[in-house]
Amino acid sequence: MEGRIVLSELEDTVRVPSVDTEADARERDIERILISEQEIADKLRELGEQITRDYQGREPLLIGVLKGAFMLMADLSRHIRLPVEVDFMAVASYGAATKTSGVVRILKDLDHDLEGRDVLLVEDIVDSGLTLNYLLKNLRGRRPASLEVCALLKKTGIQRVHLDVKYVGFEIPPDFVVGYGLDFNERFRNVPYVGLLRPEAYRDL
Ligand code: IMP
Ligand code: MG
Repeated sequence: MEGRIVLSELEDTVRVPSVDTEADARERDIERILISEQEIADKLRELGEQITRDYQGREPLLIGVLKGAFMLMADLSRHIRLPVEVDFMAVASYGAATKTSGVVRILKDLDHDLEGRDVLLVEDIVDSGLTLNYLLKNLRGRRPASLEVCALLKKTGIQRVHLDVKYVGFEIPPDFVVGYGLDFNERFRNVPYVGLLRPEAYRDL
């Protein structure tokens, strides 16, 4: 009947990601969803509750590493039921688009003084761990009262340095992923889930 919405049709359009259609142009180069929006949301609620318990009575300073952590910071911080402050730093690691060199350049430094603060570094992904290793050393030198890390993703078994990441959302295989803040050549950051790229999408580079 015209004008009437059939529920089964509505569910098809609303719930099924349009990976195989042209409906959402963001998703054209994505082969498979690795972690869905719902899984991310559930995990962030859990992590936020854990952080709320662990920092009870304190006022942590959340430091987001741009640009990858912008979405995580927004969503995670809403689940931390404590007075927090938020700051960002921007870094770039030298190297090719999908590889890291471990040489990190600070493009934007923090506005806050870290001395005596309970600092929680919010990172998108720990891959080789070299970026995080560099950042932790740098931040430790600013004498915070405590320094912990929350990373949405950690690639299994490929860290080149030992790192203690207290809060980890998901351990994933060592493949290149995009979405939920993570980019390939600055694209895909606004994809609301974490997905795997079609190999054709980066073969040319
Ligand atoms: P790492 O130094 O190798 O641990 O990685 C440093 C940075 O590279 C991360 O913070 C990300 O911004 C980026 N990165 C690492 N792996 C991926 C990935 O699979 N997709 C997108 N960006 C990544
Ligand atoms: Mg990147």
